[in-house]
Amino acid sequence: MKCVVTGAAGFIGSHLCEALLDRGYSVAGIDGFIPYYPRWYKDANLSHLLGRHGFAFHELDLRCHDPIRALDGAEAVFHLAAVPGLTRSWTEFDLYQDCNLTATQRLLQGLDKAGVRRIVLGSTSSVYGRYACGDETLPTNPISPYGVTKLAAENMARAHADGRDLEVVVLRFFSVYGPRQRPDMAYHRFIHAMLHNQPVTITGDGHQVRGNTYVSDCVAATIAALDATPGETFNVGGGESASVWDIVHRLEAIIGCKARIEREVARPGDQRVTGADTRRLTRHTGWTPQVSLDEGLSRQVEWQRTLAKRIAA
Ligand SMILES: NC(=O)c1ccc[n+]([C@@H]2O[C@H](COP(=O)([O-])OP(=O)(O)OC[C@H]3O[C@@H](n4cnc5c(N)ncnc54)[C@H](O)[C@@H]3O)[C@@H](O)[C@H]2O)c1
Repeated sequence: MKCVVTGAAGFIGSHLCEALLDRGYSVAGIDGFIPYYPRWYKDANLSHLLGRHGFAFHELDLRCHDPIRALDGAEAVFHLAAVPGLTRSWTEFDLYQDCNLTATQRLLQGLDKAGVRRIVLGSTSSVYGRYACGDETLPTNPISPYGVTKLAAENMARAHADGRDLEVVVLRFFSVYGPRQRPDMAYHRFIHAMLHNQPVTITGDGHQVRGNTYVSDCVAATIAALDATPGETFNVGGGESASVWDIVHRLEAIIGCKARIEREVARPGDQRVTGADTRRLTRHTGWTPQVSLDEGLSRQVEWQRTLAKRIAA
């Protein structure tokens, strides 16, 4: 069976492609290398895929390029391409609107043309807003432009499915971490700072709480969603919540050093508490998270240590 993964050179997308290939799927990966973080990270992610049997890569910007060749013969699309991160979404809104909404609309039109009948859409806990704690019946009240564009993309996919032969499953990911995590994400920045004896910057009071999801658990949930009931929306979370301070203390224990803390004002649009109730996904697919927070953080630290050595060499 052929699948398409958009955002294939990104953090979660590259892991997803590998897992699909491991399970015997053939995979067409799409990515436009949108430069909101350095391209070499994405090239490094792709290096795990290029040359693998069953993998084909298509460098396409979904805002403007036609994905029809990549979609040809596919049975399902995993749509992860997006510009993530809340801070920049206030100042670079056009980029978010174009990559998260317009590109999704173009992709959905492409699915229609190519006769692809199923899409799994990677969305986010940010659609819930400041308090994102609970199950999928929580009201959606995004408080950042990023969350607004992702919610709009969800709704665009549902609009396309209405009255058409298209099956949509929406997954709302909660703070995904692990090897290849984007360099703008908090845990990546904390680990980088601690490994390089630099100050760790904490925004706000540090008591913000995140429901954390290890990347292989996120990927397993995404693949499980292939067989979920069309039209459903599922939270994807790893089951262990932690405040920013808690994460810093765990990292101090794993790395074996004391963090030097620098404080900054809270970021507008930052969520206060997130924590996914994932019982619906478990009921529908049998999926459960497998990797504990300490184990997952240790693996990310190891990956960043190797990365630092490679850069220094
Ligand atoms: N990482 C998280 O914690 C997290 C949490 C919630 C939701 N998500 C969602 O998961 C998905 C993947 O996130 P990630 O952390 O792996 O991000 P990422 O930035 O590493 O990956 C996204 C990829 O999409 C590509 N892309 C963006 N716009 C594109 C376009 N117009 N055409 C082609 N490619 C384009 C980028 O070049 C990038 O490689 C996103 O949809 C994001 O909103 C991530």
